[in-house]
Amino acid sequence: MSETQTNDAQGLSSQLPEGGFPPPEALAAAANAGPDTYERAAADRVGFWEDAARRLDWDQPWEQALDWSNPPFAKWFVGGKLNVAANCVDRHVDAGHGSQVAYHWIGEPGDTRTITYAQLKDEVCKTANALIELGVQSGDRVAIYLPMIPETIFTMLACARIGAVHMVVFGGFSPDALASRITDADAKVVVTADGGYRRGAPSGLKPNVDEALTKTDGVRSVLVVNRTGQDVEMTEGRDVWWSDLVERQSTEHTAEAFDAEHPLYIMYTSGTTAKPKGILHTSGGYLTQVSYTHWATFDLKPDTDVYWTAADVGWVTGHSYIVYGPLSNRATSVMYEGTPETPHRGRWWEIVQEYGVTILYTAPTTIRTFMKWGDDVPAGFDLSSLRLLGSVGEPINPEAWLWYHKNIGGGRCPIVDTWWQTETGGHMITPLPGVTKLVPGSAQHPFPGISAKVVDDEGNELADDSTGLLVLTEPWPSMLRTIWGDDDRYVDTYWSRFGKNVYFAGDGAKKDADGNIWLLGRVDDVMNVSGHRISTTEVESALVSHPTVAEAAVVGATDPTTGQGIVAFVILRGDAVDRGEELVKELRLHVRKEIGPIASPRQIMVVQELPKTRSGKIMRRLLRDVAENRELGDVTTLTDSSVMELISSKLPSSG
Ligand code: WT7
Repeated sequence: MSETQTNDAQGLSSQLPEGGFPPPEALAAAANAGPDTYERAAADRVGFWEDAARRLDWDQPWEQALDWSNPPFAKWFVGGKLNVAANCVDRHVDAGHGSQVAYHWIGEPGDTRTITYAQLKDEVCKTANALIELGVQSGDRVAIYLPMIPETIFTMLACARIGAVHMVVFGGFSPDALASRITDADAKVVVTADGGYRRGAPSGLKPNVDEALTKTDGVRSVLVVNRTGQDVEMTEGRDVWWSDLVERQSTEHTAEAFDAEHPLYIMYTSGTTAKPKGILHTSGGYLTQVSYTHWATFDLKPDTDVYWTAADVGWVTGHSYIVYGPLSNRATSVMYEGTPETPHRGRWWEIVQEYGVTILYTAPTTIRTFMKWGDDVPAGFDLSSLRLLGSVGEPINPEAWLWYHKNIGGGRCPIVDTWWQTETGGHMITPLPGVTKLVPGSAQHPFPGISAKVVDDEGNELADDSTGLLVLTEPWPSMLRTIWGDDDRYVDTYWSRFGKNVYFAGDGAKKDADGNIWLLGRVDDVMNVSGHRISTTEVESALVSHPTVAEAAVVGATDPTTGQGIVAFVILRGDAVDRGEELVKELRLHVRKEIGPIASPRQIMVVQELPKTRSGKIMRRLLRDVAENRELGDVTTLTDSSVMELISSKLPSSG
């Protein structure tokens, strides 16, 4: 069983032009990256990244582009010095673009702020001076626990400006999770807010910080942004209001140049063990790659585009493609605080219409939610300003791709399906919108200057049309440099399976006969049924291609006969009727038809919700626990832990 989502695509082949959707002619003619981009990178990989680095302002040029003498510890642009914040802000103001809008910020309750590059410079300088007054020095770690408000960006850039290392913790994390991250990073200062707006109500953040700080020592100051006006407790001598400290600071601050390898930030991500990994990114290489990929993958035209990454700044997508990539390219961005259904399900489309958004970047899970809400919602708005769409975070099933293409992109916008990770810092596998013929469901090709391969368990590169593991065979500028405080874990997790020169991504992948790479989900989510490898994603993709299904999650549950059995959890579309056993039978048949009898689920359960992390990833691990009648594992990272009780109650007593 080696077929993958291509089956699904074949099932939808009537909607696909031969060989894929070609780039729109006008876009291709004026695209930032053309076929020659691949050629240049292939001819001189490191030289290509040096050219990309020259798009930035360096206070001191590098002596050596790449030092890979001690793998897997890479150094990029050795000897070079730059200031990341000055590259994102000051240089645009100096070049006469101070009045250009950097962010159209939209609060969930409907309040708005427009921030130009000149204003951004003032705010970043004030925040930098405030952090200095709190005693923050170069190399110190600053924890940021804020909602989607401009102060989050001011604080990140202020840290970068003074050489402090920011550690943003997504506002949805619990006090425990915050405390463990503060302890691990040894942060001295926390920046938070009285609250933020989510789903129509102010949420508390400061109380979480207060609780977290009972579980960790070492934090000496808490800076509190005034956002909601909720009553919060302020601890004398430790806590200070943003309005008291930052507002009185000078807008003058001279940025100092830091080494290219100076730490920029830590972002925690979960691994296979309970302890989250602090992924460390540094300055010159990181900014080079996020800046270049943002410019090339999204074909960003700073004078005319209105760019929107609809993700939370608390994740790597936000760091690279709300903050550092767009600002380094002098983009005008939209930043939205709230959820897509507040106050109504058309909120995003209203924003696109009002601000004339031209480029939209979001996740498949959100796209499938919009599918569930129905075509009518986006159809009620003028989305004609859009010219390019992006997808990130998980494989996008062809059904969702085509829905996005038609209902949001009006059939005219290319979709770039970008594969990358917290660890990779920037895009790694993606189509280029002015070059690639788009194949729905596949991330297609390594970005220019990136070396990705599909290998077998021994690390041998596989022939086209076979399924294996994704590896990266050359270092890249925005790669993680280590796991904070744990070099051994860094080596073990990523650089041991196939030796110290090969990065093991943890994803299954297939290269098809045309050389397109299809990501098949984490390898721990790959099922083995009767000796056949089947990706959970593959079965999910088949299920959601059925007209009644909005979303599906599939797990491999231990089975005495077949090794693993496929258990599927599905959410029906709003207009579909749950016809009980009859529908389940129909869905099983549909999967047999789409993929083959081997992929037919042992069990299909219709549920109302799926357990998701706050970043929108389905927690298959918990579903596997349910499917195998086990005690539930750790549910602390779920958005809503009651979801699991609902699902468990649906389950017949044995699997
Ligand atoms: C994992 C990384 C990249 C920022 C957001 C997630 C999956 C990500 C894709 C894609 C298929 C994808 C992979 C990867 N993934 N993008 N376009 N197609 N899978 O970052 O939380 O570090 O997760 O997300 O499984 O390993 P992350």
